[in-house]
Amino acid sequence: MGNHVSRRDLMRWSLLGAGSIPAAALLAACSKATGQTAPTTSAAPTTTGLAPTTSAAPTTTAAPATTTPFDPSVPWWLQANFAPVMDELEVFDLEVRGALPPGLRGTYVKNGSNPQRANSPHWFFGDGMTHGVWLDGGKATAYRNKWVATTPYTQKLEFGQGVPGGDNNQSNVSALWHGGRLLTSGEVGFPYELDPATLATKGLVDFGGTLAGSFTAHPHIDPATGRMHSFGYDFADPFLRYHIIEPDGTMSHIEGVSVPRSTMMHDFAITETDAVFWDLPVIFDLDLAVQFLTDPTIIPFRWAPEVGARLGVMPLTGGADAIQWFEVDPCYVFHHVNAFRRGDEVVVDVCWQESMFGGNEFATPSVRRWTANTATGSFREDILDVPPGDLPSRDPRRMGREHRYGYLIGTRDDPNTVNLGGLVKVDYQTGTAETWDPGPTRHGSEFLFVPGDEGDTADDAGWLLAFVHDDAANETTLAVLDATAVTAGPVAEVVMPRRVPYGFHATWIPAQ
Ligand SMILES: [Fe+2]
Repeated sequence: MGNHVSRRDLMRWSLLGAGSIPAAALLAACSKATGQTAPTTSAAPTTTGLAPTTSAAPTTTAAPATTTPFDPSVPWWLQANFAPVMDELEVFDLEVRGALPPGLRGTYVKNGSNPQRANSPHWFFGDGMTHGVWLDGGKATAYRNKWVATTPYTQKLEFGQGVPGGDNNQSNVSALWHGGRLLTSGEVGFPYELDPATLATKGLVDFGGTLAGSFTAHPHIDPATGRMHSFGYDFADPFLRYHIIEPDGTMSHIEGVSVPRSTMMHDFAITETDAVFWDLPVIFDLDLAVQFLTDPTIIPFRWAPEVGARLGVMPLTGGADAIQWFEVDPCYVFHHVNAFRRGDEVVVDVCWQESMFGGNEFATPSVRRWTANTATGSFREDILDVPPGDLPSRDPRRMGREHRYGYLIGTRDDPNTVNLGGLVKVDYQTGTAETWDPGPTRHGSEFLFVPGDEGDTADDAGWLLAFVHDDAANETTLAVLDATAVTAGPVAEVVMPRRVPYGFHATWIPAQ
């Protein structure tokens, strides 16, 4: 029985920036992906009542009904502003509406799926394309976009064609800025490096030949050390590897983390002292993988709550033998907002959904806080009474440290397509949220937090940057919001020289 991907499944996957799973990689891994043993450790689960932390209501009303046009004869990811653009532009001196903060100096780079054939079996299986906007002194000085010149792109490979893994991935999920290097990454395979001045692809990144398996689209940089902590999941043993990359780009630590099977693990978390994994029951399925080879609308993962769900806490500096597992109620989490250690407790704020590929994952998505006590082995889950959202962002200066705010993109009900909405600013201290909705014909995307003045370290002292697309005007702007005053809407919008298709994850490169 094939696990055909429903529109809703695709919507969720796509929204969350999961992509770039080469079919051949799955097949190659199949022979080694069976017969695994059970987890070796399991701390006592004491998941409690899921009580709301507060009952305060959001400050604005629900999003208005959409007016997004839809052609049922065309896949949703190939129409409206999901459709790819077919050219690479370089345009200077962009129109700005409002007043850009003069201190916001740097480059915003967003990655997304943009199939060079203008066709793909999924939104997230297209070739990676980055869009960059250069900001300086209150002006938007340039816009550039380029495909990521991956092997599948340059050799014009069909999706799933060619030798799996490594260079054979579309590198279309995220953009990363670390140690003076601009990288793109997909769900599996190796990252690519881009020239931050032009977005031209410089080449494949294997960290001096040390990268043995996949590299996540969601590594996290410790603000104290500058180290990039990362992981990769694969379809053959070892199913999970942990990496530490120094600011100079060298891999200083790599080790396997023992998990019983290959599960879809899109993100992980760090604290000042811990690396945190969630091993949730979306498992790689050999039969589905074989079907995937002839029908790429079949996702080779399936929902398997019977295998259980766990949160793993291990030392940040490595030492998988010391990992401590906490049982979690079966669920799925693509992204977390942030995590931190508070004494014996490790707190992880997550964008939670009931399941993935299980048919009911959209029933009750919610914003939740997980608290694992590494001294007692207890685990608690709290639900915040705020609008759900995903594609989270936070002040990167607080990565792994206690935070007050997180920033999510909300979605709108739509029977036809992914319908991105507006911003949800979550206050984890009060359990409340503020929202900004761009209007019924306009759609937001990931709101990337960019720190403001260096001396202002307040939790929300910064800017939120997101592409916003207007279906009615067929216009995309880069919206800049003051994170301390999100309900007021953008302080400025930079008008893009043409529409920018909805993408996945962005990064910020501060001007030198
Ligand atoms: Fe993602």
